[in-house]
Amino acid sequence: MSSPTLEKHSAALDAAENTASQMITATFRIRRFNPEVSEEASWQDFQLEIDPKERVLDALHKIKWDQDGTLTFRRSCAHGICGSDAMRINGKNRLACKTLIKDINPQKPITVEAIKGLTVLKDLVVDMEPFFQAYRDVMPFLITNGNEPTRERRQTAEDRERFDDTTKCILCAACTSSCPVFWNDGQYFGPAAIVNAHRFIFDSRDEGGEQRLEILNDKDGVWRCRTTFNCTDACPRGIEVTKAIQEVKRALITRRF
Ligand code: SF4
Ligand code: FES
Repeated sequence: MSSPTLEKHSAALDAAENTASQMITATFRIRRFNPEVSEEASWQDFQLEIDPKERVLDALHKIKWDQDGTLTFRRSCAHGICGSDAMRINGKNRLACKTLIKDINPQKPITVEAIKGLTVLKDLVVDMEPFFQAYRDVMPFLITNGNEPTRERRQTAEDRERFDDTTKCILCAACTSSCPVFWNDGQYFGPAAIVNAHRFIFDSRDEGGEQRLEILNDKDGVWRCRTTFNCTDACPRGIEVTKAIQEVKRALITRRF
């Protein structure tokens, strides 16, 4: 009769063998750029053995740790919360930490490059400052006038519902950097700034809606949106970005929000 310890050990060995048998060899084609080495970006292939149930972020870690320590990318939480690892994977903006290798056709080389429309600093890292400047410009905080209340500012469930979707933004820039209008000149506020303006414009406790609408009435504001839906497709949080932009446009026309 086998002992429970032996059975456990053999189950663990079986599991390890199963995992090993599921490993595949995948090619990651990464767009590299290092201004200290060359003014031109170029593609570099890396091959690695990986479980297809792992994520693109895991693959980037393996490449950096085992093959080329100079590979540069941002990431922090690794769980879809901080928004720091948006990149173009197989031509589409995604979070590397939320993208499973098995879902992006690993039989072919998987392309990974920096998001578009923002200056690339190194490899997959872009200068996010213009993106955050647009965010700051729409005043993404509660604005109220008069005396401080002596109790919490109350709101009905229906009022809260009006801006629920746009509270989910993690400022990853996947939407803004997938927008052809933003690619053109980078002056357009971009979907993410409008989403974050929406979050406060439609908050019944906020009194800065008119100010924010005036800011977005600018030549580089909401009217530059061409409703291509790239932003909605790119958002890893499933926010209906184009719908939010349309609601802001409507509020500008009707002045009702
Ligand atoms: S709206 Fe979506 S895609 Fe755009 S910054 Fe926010 S979370 Fe990212
Ligand atoms: S690392 Fe934080 S969202 Fe991907």
